[in-house]
Amino acid sequence: MKEAVQSLLERASRALSGLEEDPKALDQARIRFLGRKGELAQLFKELGKVPDDVRREVGRVLNEAKAQLEELFSEALEKGREHAEGKREAIDVTVPGRVPLLGRLHPITQVALEITRIFNWLGFETVEGPEIELDYYNFEALNIPKDHPAREMQDTFYISEDVVLRTHTSPIQVRVMEKRKPPIRIIAPGRTYRCDSDVTHTPMFHQVEGLMVGKNVSFGDLKGVLATFVHEMFGPEVGLRFRPSFFPFTEPSAEVDIQCVICRGQGCRVCKQTGWLEILGSGMVDPEVYKYVDYDPEEVSGFAFGMGIERIAMLKYGIDDLRLFYENDLRFLGQF
Ligand code: DAH
Repeated sequence: MKEAVQSLLERASRALSGLEEDPKALDQARIRFLGRKGELAQLFKELGKVPDDVRREVGRVLNEAKAQLEELFSEALEKGREHAEGKREAIDVTVPGRVPLLGRLHPITQVALEITRIFNWLGFETVEGPEIELDYYNFEALNIPKDHPAREMQDTFYISEDVVLRTHTSPIQVRVMEKRKPPIRIIAPGRTYRCDSDVTHTPMFHQVEGLMVGKNVSFGDLKGVLATFVHEMFGPEVGLRFRPSFFPFTEPSAEVDIQCVICRGQGCRVCKQTGWLEILGSGMVDPEVYKYVDYDPEEVSGFAFGMGIERIAMLKYGIDDLRLFYENDLRFLGQF
């Protein structure tokens, strides 16, 4: 009898090892050993056949065995529970990480930085000026007197009679010349405002102004600097041309066209079949402007230019709707 009990305990403990993770198998084993018709119950039945003198002793052994078996099973059950919980809480190091959403510079900022980078490389220093500007700097000192028709063209936001939201970055030219003596080479990006809104205009937009003034600065220098800029910005194969134009603050004035970046000059919808796209205004600083800053036009000469950053960005990236820049749709912004 003792051997039978010993063997039962050994088999039970062997059967249990490894079953902790399998609650169903564990329950089956419990029934097999501890159930009402299980192996231990069979042994208890034998108790009746045991001779009287050892029955007490055998009963004690069987009860002990029962207690041990129950202990074995409850341990296995406990282990199984811990295991299941561990599984739930464990960190699975093979799961791909969640990539945090990274912010990025707005395409307009990127293009502004690219433009200023090119001019910095050519020796132009980046400067800024106020967005709320005096009429004097925005118009008067740029040779655009009151009643000048050019004021009409600019759709100005007036804050008061003398104060405006700057309609272009050109006032920065005057502010810089007023403070410094030549030689001057500056590039000035910033926000500009005009009371205008449609597919190709937003009331707030961006411009970059450039100015170079010194001894013997010529129209040839203007052409060289702007050609270098165009080739750096759009690629060395892109052709450009200077087309006579008019601005009150430059004389002579020229607008710069580049070969259409969409059709490569063949003619398409974007360039209206001309093969050319206007990208900036420029010219030799008008002697009238020097009068406002006390420069002697006999001593110094220089050129200036101004361009719209949105326009440059649209051409560089082939974007056909200006409004995309200001809708803040991440699907659009994420492409740059
Ligand atoms: N300020 C002009 C505009 O807003 C652009 C411009 C043209 C700037 C010629 C210049 C220039 O400095 O020389 O349309």
